Amino acid sequence: MRIFSGIQPTGEKHLGNYIGAIRQYVEAQDRGEPAVFCIVDLHAITVSYDPKELRKRLHDTTAILLAAGLDPERCVLFRQSDVKEHTELSWLLGSVTAHGDLNRMHQFKDKSASQKELVSAGLFFYPVLQAADVLAYRANEVPVGEDQRQHIELMREIARRFNERFGETLVVPEHRIPEVGAKVMDLQEPDRKMSTSVGADSGRVFVLDEEKAIRKKFGSAVTDSGREIRRGEDKAGIANLIGVLSVASGKAEDEIENDFADAGYGDFKKAVADSVVEFLAPVRDAYPEIRADDAELERILATGAERARGYASQTLADVRSAMGIGPP
Ligand code: TYM
Repeated sequence: MRIFSGIQPTGEKHLGNYIGAIRQYVEAQDRGEPAVFCIVDLHAITVSYDPKELRKRLHDTTAILLAAGLDPERCVLFRQSDVKEHTELSWLLGSVTAHGDLNRMHQFKDKSASQKELVSAGLFFYPVLQAADVLAYRANEVPVGEDQRQHIELMREIARRFNERFGETLVVPEHRIPEVGAKVMDLQEPDRKMSTSVGADSGRVFVLDEEKAIRKKFGSAVTDSGREIRRGEDKAGIANLIGVLSVASGKAEDEIENDFADAGYGDFKKAVADSVVEFLAPVRDAYPEIRADDAELERILATGAERARGYASQTLADVRSAMGIGPP
């Protein structure tokens, strides 16, 4: 089972990234043959960004993944731009991607609406690069959160169309979206997903937040005017907290509803905060030492890129040959 996933080096990683994706990566290491994880700097440049910040953020994200438990001996961890096969493959796949399909991508619509200066062609082409990321490794499985479902559907379509047109070359991948926690919602606006770029900081818990900040954010999380701790219509805030507690504590959502049947919202929020503090503590504790050693981070990324290239270059040779590109 080949497993692949990617994560952006933008902003600080939040609880949604951790619950929806990062904890799945850690689990995938022992199933993947291999499990491949990529920090996608080339995706990050499709919206406005600061070049000086990008390298720093890339190291931040690498250190978070390592602190969360990725082990470079047991997985392949690398920087997207170090493996040039991704960009070449994205161009080649562009010729079997329908313009109309790209036009339907929700993420493009959302992100283009929020760009103040330039809506780049790169932002439009973003899902093709994402398809190249996965298809270059002939990955079978892609662990992601709910918001990436449409991008995975598109890469499946691209792989199918490629194989139909040029012969069986690429693997059609499947998404792996967790049952609970696939879409962690904003604590202040629980009808919207927790996100790095939209909403106030009080609505998102960062993986590296101090205990005090975590408690404060859960304490002021928006709920509803009722008093029941259960999932249901008009209970987006409480339902979100139940999901978060379920993942952080390892208890089923039904069990949580039973346990808190007689509790008030205040006590419940406190229990969620306690559990999340404990859940994130190992990552927060491990992070500073890992992040302090830039040279070691670069060494890990370089070794990862070397291994990644081994897989990707083989796929590229097959794709070029199937498409009639380059010398015979
Ligand atoms: P990115 O960097 O925005 O997010 C990384 C992962 O976090 C998940 N996620 C969430 N899960 C639950 N609740 C949330 N509120 C939440 N917010 C984010 C995302 O689903 C994702 O799994 N386009 C991708 C990066 C990418 C990629 C790839 C992913 C590039 N190439 C190839 C998979 C395969 C992105 O922007 O993720």
